[in-house]
Amino acid sequence: MRKPMLAGNWKMNKTRDEAIEFTLATTKNLPCECKVDCVVCAPAIILRDLVKRAEGTNLHIGAQNMCEFESGAYTGEISPVMLKDTQVEYVILGHSERRAYYNETNEHINAKVKKALEFELKPIICVGEVLEEREANKTNEVLKTQTVAALEGVEITNPEDVIVAYEPVWAIGTGKSASAQIAEEACGYIRSVIAELYSKELADKVRILYGGSVKPANIKEYMAQPNVDGGLVGGAALKADSFVELCQACAE
Ligand code: 13P
Repeated sequence: MRKPMLAGNWKMNKTRDEAIEFTLATTKNLPCECKVDCVVCAPAIILRDLVKRAEGTNLHIGAQNMCEFESGAYTGEISPVMLKDTQVEYVILGHSERRAYYNETNEHINAKVKKALEFELKPIICVGEVLEEREANKTNEVLKTQTVAALEGVEITNPEDVIVAYEPVWAIGTGKSASAQIAEEACGYIRSVIAELYSKELADKVRILYGGSVKPANIKEYMAQPNVDGGLVGGAALKADSFVELCQACAE
């Protein structure tokens, strides 16, 4: 049985004070860690504060990106060494906004996945098609290319610690969420690709999340799907009450 996960991706939102207020409002009300992993991926500059405040609770902290190099002349980047030092547990890699606005390629993402695992950071690897690709019936092709590339040469020792998020780009921040059936088909397909790369046994342990306009009103439909193990949520994870509601729905 895979443990569900609800991960909030705050993107470029929240000041330190707002983030602290969020932790005060959520940590006491989150469901038991035995039922769901609750994660918030926050801007790097406030990670240390969040890690400190979330200690001993079921709020786990992640970063939203990471450099594939450990140190050196990479102005503006955050290294795996720094994330490890900050004691974050997770890191989102290959988000479509990073791919689209910052030219991250499958090769960059693959190097980042390897580095994250080397530093015992749990990667949340994002894959997903744009609308034109869906309309041209290329969704599976895109999902396969991105998944295979991200995992190329990656040795997985703890399948529970590698998370893949299916995020159709057309559903992100648009309010136009994918139907539960679309999410199930895509997550199931990604699982079959992982099974081909490794084994069915390993693929059955990897958590695959759906992301794209998830909110308290629709999370249960996704959670009812056998291959959807949780959500990666942007807008609806910014407010404490809706984040708690989403986590509770995943725990049921
Ligand atoms: P929204 O939930 O705001 O659509 O964002 C999804 C997302 O990009 C999470 O990574």
